[in-house]
Amino acid sequence: MQTDLRGRDLIGDLDFSKEEVETVLDVAFDLKRKRALGESHAYLRDKVLAMLFFFSSTRTRGSFEAGMAQLGGHAAFIESKTTQISHGDTPKEIGEIFGRYFDGIAIRHVDWGVGNGYLNAVAKASRVPILNMQCDIYHPFQCLADLMTIIEKKGRDLRRKKMVVSWAYAASYQKPMSVPQSLVLQMPRFGMDVVLAHPPEFKLMPEVMEQAQEQARKFGTGFEVVDDMEAAFKDADIIYAKSWGAMVHTPDANAGAEIIKKYSHWITDERKMALAKSDAIYMHPLPADRNIEVTDGVMDGVQSVVYDEAENRMHAQKAVMALTMK
Ligand code: CP
Repeated sequence: MQTDLRGRDLIGDLDFSKEEVETVLDVAFDLKRKRALGESHAYLRDKVLAMLFFFSSTRTRGSFEAGMAQLGGHAAFIESKTTQISHGDTPKEIGEIFGRYFDGIAIRHVDWGVGNGYLNAVAKASRVPILNMQCDIYHPFQCLADLMTIIEKKGRDLRRKKMVVSWAYAASYQKPMSVPQSLVLQMPRFGMDVVLAHPPEFKLMPEVMEQAQEQARKFGTGFEVVDDMEAAFKDADIIYAKSWGAMVHTPDANAGAEIIKKYSHWITDERKMALAKSDAIYMHPLPADRNIEVTDGVMDGVQSVVYDEAENRMHAQKAVMALTMK
């Protein structure tokens, strides 16, 4: 167990070693048990987390805010539009100044080509941990909650389990690619054979793909890329299908929106789920475009674990905060 996480940032999924992620999971399961039993676990009494949002949120805000209160501390919700950032406060100033007020700074900034750089610039100037509530490249807390959920449903030994990370159709907007990128980076470290499925225009970032392939090699797991959703679903243990944008293919949002329209048949429905193993689970980080990206029947069906995933956001985040902000 690697317990020396005090003061550490969590910006990219590989910032924590596999052993450190295992420590986070152990603590997360313990905190989940303590909450179920009503046992106090105020490890962060008198500590305050800044939550700086450049983009909307339901689960991330709710789970960080509730989690900090349960740990005995407080979370300050800061909507970027209400700050002086647009009038000149630089990332350096945010890091320097918030680092003196707060015990941790959590940031969500998903703008393509901007978000991750912003988090790293704040981190450079901050004396307290920077926690990534989702950027354009990674969504590490979602991924930790997903891993926790998979362990709950499929057990600790995940070797040779087939996990499908699939693109799905949604026309509402070009969603960030941070969730699939975090999944392909983290899941090979825990033994799963990852199959990444997407139409040709929805490639992930080449540098992330290289790192994912390196993790799969290092941990002796399978890693395959296909362009056929149905072929990917065959005999899968875990189906994780969500939409993301064509930003790697084209930075032009209108061109990206036109490309998405070609693939409305990439919906997760009952027929496709039947191609997977009978005990396969369906995962989605939410929000989803219901009956466009996934049918109600799948989302609300017996194979869906989406609400457990959403709950586990809070337990995983509490674990990281308790370990890094103490
Ligand atoms: N999954 C997730 O990050 O949800 P929110 O966008 O609602 O925070």
